[in-house]
Amino acid sequence: MTADAKKKMPITDAELIRLANQAKEMAYAPYSRFHVGAALIDDQDRVFTGCNIENASYGATNCAERTAIFKAVSEGARQIRKLAVVCDQETPCVPCGICRQIIAEFAAADFELLAADPSGHFKRYSQEALLPDAFVLPTKP
Ligand code: THU
Repeated sequence: MTADAKKKMPITDAELIRLANQAKEMAYAPYSRFHVGAALIDDQDRVFTGCNIENASYGATNCAERTAIFKAVSEGARQIRKLAVVCDQETPCVPCGICRQIIAEFAAADFELLAADPSGHFKRYSQEALLPDAFVLPTKP
């Protein structure tokens, strides 16, 4: 296989979860001490990662999922195909309501959320399962 062909190999679920775990190391969570990491792949096979970033005002906190999505969108991504989320609790980490709304805005038709636990086990969710009948404007591209 050529180097080029190799580069275009789709990233595996396990690799995306590994990148989410790596991003979790950067979590800024001095208030909750709850560290979360996320990694996504867009429709052009580009990967973006994020961690939660807390704030003394609490309300200004940004979740790991949104950090990764906003990084991606700010670099031109519009269609997210897969998003892996990891935190340190035993049950797989699922996104909050605000993040589900953001996911609805940028989810590709085949979107999957991989909600992982620290050992790498994960549950798969479609966008519809995360937020049924999500609010999006008819003008959404
Ligand atoms: N948090 C995330 O980053 N993602 C989630 O899916 C749930 C919650 C963060 C926000 C806050 O920094 C900490 O976890 C505790 O709620």
